[in-house]
Amino acid sequence: MCYALVMSQPAPAFIYATETGNAETLARQAHERAVASGWIHASVVNISQLNPADLLAHPLVIFVVSTWGDGEPPSDATDFFYALEKSALDLSGLRYAILGLGDHDYSEFCGFARNLDARLAALGATPLLPREEADLDYEDTYNAWIERLLPLLESNSVTTS
Ligand SMILES: Cc1cc2nc3c(=O)[nH]c(=O)nc-3n(C[C@H](O)[C@H](O)[C@H](O)COP(=O)(O)O)c2cc1C
Repeated sequence: MCYALVMSQPAPAFIYATETGNAETLARQAHERAVASGWIHASVVNISQLNPADLLAHPLVIFVVSTWGDGEPPSDATDFFYALEKSALDLSGLRYAILGLGDHDYSEFCGFARNLDARLAALGATPLLPREEADLDYEDTYNAWIERLLPLLESNSVTTS
């Protein structure tokens, strides 16, 4: 049987939340890997450009998010997360993954990633794989995470013969 290289919709959306760019760098790397895997319609976007209702249009979402303050969202994610906390959206059609970036020296390690994960699950969304949390030296964790994630995206795709 012959399968087309290009995956059909829904393509994954990579959403990043960042203060100083680490999460954006990794989200863009992950997006490039997805595109190279055939997800030519995959997108990458800053969380500040979205509101929670936009998740209804993106049934497959990959979050790469850092934590600031003391377990708080980075400033670009404040409005989105505030709205998500207040929201009663039905996200039962959403599948998601989260890579959190943080620093183990903080008591609320990857606090925003944890709170985001909990809120998405409370609204009915389903994780593709357990949340991953990376310390300041995040490269090895990222590399292992993306290798686990990409096959899961494909198993959620519909290939065209
Ligand atoms: C002022 C400040 C506060 C931070 N607060 C936390 C925190 O509460 N929990 C955590 O895990 N990491 C914390 N971090 C670490 C950042 O999340 C980490 O450096 C991350 O890689 C930054 O990613 P970004 O460039 O995408 O924002 C903090 C860093 C700074 C400088």
